[in-house]
Amino acid sequence: MSNHNSPRHIQKTTCKILAAFGLLWHSSTGFCARQLTNDLGIVQQDDTTMQWFMDAKFGMFIHWGLYAVPAKGEWFMENHHMPPEEYRKFAADQGDGIYFDAKDFDPAAWTKIAKNSGIKYMCLTARHHDGFALFDSRHPSAFTSLQTIHRDLYAEYTKACREAGLKVGLYYSPINWRYPGYYDVRGTNCATNTWHYQTDPAHKENARLMKEEVYEQVRTLFKNYGPFDYVFWDGGWLAQQGTDRAAMFFWEPGKYRDPHNPWPVADAYSDFDDSGKALGLMGIARKYSPHVIVNRRCGWIGDIADEEGSKPVTGPVRPFYWEKCLNLNKSSWGYNGHQNLMTYDEIIRFLVEVVVRNGNLLLNFGPDRHGVIPASHAALTKRVGNWLAAAGDSIYGSRGGPWNPVDGQYGFTYKPGKYFVHLLPGYQGTEFTTPVIPEKATGCRDLFTGKKLKYTVAKDGSLHITGLNRNAHPADTVIMIQVKAMNKK
Ligand code: GLC
Repeated sequence: MSNHNSPRHIQKTTCKILAAFGLLWHSSTGFCARQLTNDLGIVQQDDTTMQWFMDAKFGMFIHWGLYAVPAKGEWFMENHHMPPEEYRKFAADQGDGIYFDAKDFDPAAWTKIAKNSGIKYMCLTARHHDGFALFDSRHPSAFTSLQTIHRDLYAEYTKACREAGLKVGLYYSPINWRYPGYYDVRGTNCATNTWHYQTDPAHKENARLMKEEVYEQVRTLFKNYGPFDYVFWDGGWLAQQGTDRAAMFFWEPGKYRDPHNPWPVADAYSDFDDSGKALGLMGIARKYSPHVIVNRRCGWIGDIADEEGSKPVTGPVRPFYWEKCLNLNKSSWGYNGHQNLMTYDEIIRFLVEVVVRNGNLLLNFGPDRHGVIPASHAALTKRVGNWLAAAGDSIYGSRGGPWNPVDGQYGFTYKPGKYFVHLLPGYQGTEFTTPVIPEKATGCRDLFTGKKLKYTVAKDGSLHITGLNRNAHPADTVIMIQVKAMNKK
C-alpha cells in the first residue's frame, strides 16, 4: 500500500499535477524536471546545465551607476523627470567634486564581501534603464564609463569574479530612458511619460536607434566580456507598459531577427550565425555563452522564473526553477542615502523560505558613487556567511523538499543520505516530529551547534526529535538527519 506521507508518494502526486505545467518526473534523479520548451528557436537549458545554479542558492545582485550620485535609487532620472542632458552631469565633475568617479572601485573587495557572505554568483548592472553603460560600447549614441572616467568597469568586474572563482552574471536593461522613441516606437501614439514627450513620426527612427544600440551592446558584452554563467535581462516592456512578451515584436528576443522587421538593425551592429542569418537577443547570448542561464524578462520564456521584492515567500515546494531577488537596503536597488537595512533574521528567513521551496536568493547591494559597498552592509551579510559556514550543508547542493513547508514555521531540504529540517522562529517548541522517512535514520544533530539530538522512530518511520536548542541560532534551527537506504527484500 502506498504511504501518503512518503516523499516518493508526494513527489509522484505532485508530478501528476505538474504535467499540466509541462513538467516531467525524472525517476533517475528523483526531481521533477521541465519538459524543455523551444521558444522562439531557443531551447531552455537542461537539468545538467542548471545544476550549478541549483547548487549555488545564493547570489549577489549589484546595482551601480550614475544614480549612485543623487543617492535616491536607480529610478532617479524617471522619478525626478530629469532630461537626459541634465542627467549626464552626474558623470562628470561640475566643479563640486560630486560625480560618479568610481575612485575606490575595487571589484576584488566586492568578491571578497560575496565570499565572506557565502555567496556563489555575482550579477552587476552593465546598464540600467538610464542607459549609462559600465563597459566599452562603440555604438555612436552610447554613453559609457569609458567616455566619462576612462575606465572599463565591467572588464574589471568580470575579471575579479573569475579570479575569485565566482560565477559571472550580467544584468542588462534594454529599456533606455535616453530615447523618447522608447515611449513611441511607431511614432504614432506616444505613451504618457514623465518627460512629456508627444507623438512624433521621428520617434520611429529614434526607437530603431535605441534598439540598434542594444544590439551593439549585447553583442559587445557577450563577445568581449563572456562567457557569462547567468543573465538578468531587465525589461522588454515598452513605454513602461504591458509585458516583456508583448514587446517582442520590437526587440526580437528569440534566436533570429526577421529581415522584414520595421525596426532593422544595421549590419555593422548585428551578429550572425554561420549561415548569415541575423541573430536576436537570445541568439547572440547563446552563441557566445552556450550554457548561460537567463531569466524571462526580455520576452523569451527564460530558464528560470523570477520573483521580485520583499513579499513573504509562501506555499508549497515550487516545481520549476526560480529565483527571488530583493534589496538588502530596502530603500532602493541603487545606492540610497536613506539606509533601511534588512535585519539578519530577515535575510536568513528569506534565504531559508526560498531554498525550502527549491529557489535561489539574489540579494542586492548598492555601492556608492566611489564604488564602495557600505561597511555596515558587508558586516551584516558576513554574519550570514558565518552561519552558512556552519549550516551550509543544509543549503548548498540541497533541493527543496521532499515534503512541503509550512508557511512561516518550517521547511525541508535534502540531498543524498541527508534530510534537513529548518525550524523558523514561527515554530514554537523544542521537539519536532518529521513526516515519514522512507530510509533508516542513522543519526540526528543540530547542524549549527554540532550537538547530537535524541530521537525515537515511530512505526510508520517518522522521527520524533527532542531536546532542541532554539536559542543557539533562533533565525533557523537546522536539524540534520542522516539516513541510509533500507535493504528491500
Ligand atoms: C525592476 C526595476 C529595477 C530593478 C529591478 C530588479 O525591474 O525597474 O529598477 O533593477 O526591478 O529586479
